[in-house]
Amino acid sequence: MITTMQAIRERHSVRAYKEDPIEQSVREQLDEEALKCSQESGLTFRIVYDDEKGFDSALAHYGRFRNVRNYILIAASTKQNVDEKAGYYGERLVILAQQLGLNTCWAALTFNKREVRKHLAADERLIIVISLGYGVDQGHPHRSKDIGKLAELRQDDPQWYRDGVEAALQAPTAVNQQKFHISRQDDLVSILPGGRGTLVALDLGIVKCNFELGAGGENFRWEKSAV
Ligand SMILES: Cc1cc2nc3c(=O)[nH]c(=O)nc-3n(C[C@H](O)[C@H](O)[C@H](O)COP(=O)(O)O)c2cc1C
Repeated sequence: MITTMQAIRERHSVRAYKEDPIEQSVREQLDEEALKCSQESGLTFRIVYDDEKGFDSALAHYGRFRNVRNYILIAASTKQNVDEKAGYYGERLVILAQQLGLNTCWAALTFNKREVRKHLAADERLIIVISLGYGVDQGHPHRSKDIGKLAELRQDDPQWYRDGVEAALQAPTAVNQQKFHISRQDDLVSILPGGRGTLVALDLGIVKCNFELGAGGENFRWEKSAV
């Protein structure tokens, strides 16, 4: 299996998929990680396999999604403090999926909400969906803002911080907005959102996950964290 850092570098949003079903052993590994994410976060991470309806809508096609047959649902029974967690744990699943040879795309809007909701209980509020499958290609690297706009850098930064920032820049963000700023005081790392709202909070969790996988969780502490 490729390393998490390699998976972070190779992951790009893929919206068109082959028809091949996801292998059984791969499903088991994904389901096991989804269960861990649910237990640690208190949110619901549920993987739906072999369902063509979830992304069958005008909006999904307009969003260039093709042949989506599997997807991850992220939901919660409360509204409090859930978006950042959804991003953080969802990205853990995204990176594992990449390591297992799959491709993904986060989707806040471009899916069939009515169909997707059928897989949730009445008290579960849908936060976001991630499409999943074997991509027709591997996608393309996104354009990134200048590194100096996204993180505070100094000559004497340790290697783990540089690696963390590199991983953060590769993170998917809604409409590639990259609204975050990272800084460091010794081993204390802060990340500030460059805006408000659900998508910025989701992005923040995603970026944090990438930073942590790049930097190594043992090398630093977050200044304050919901995850
Ligand atoms: C929170 C979030 C929501 C997103 N929602 C959508 C969406 O509704 N439709 C879509 O086509 N892409 C969506 N994306 C994918 C982004 O457009 C994509 O991640 C971004 O352009 C960066 O490209 P990359 O993932 O290839 O690095 C979303 C991404 C994130 C992180």
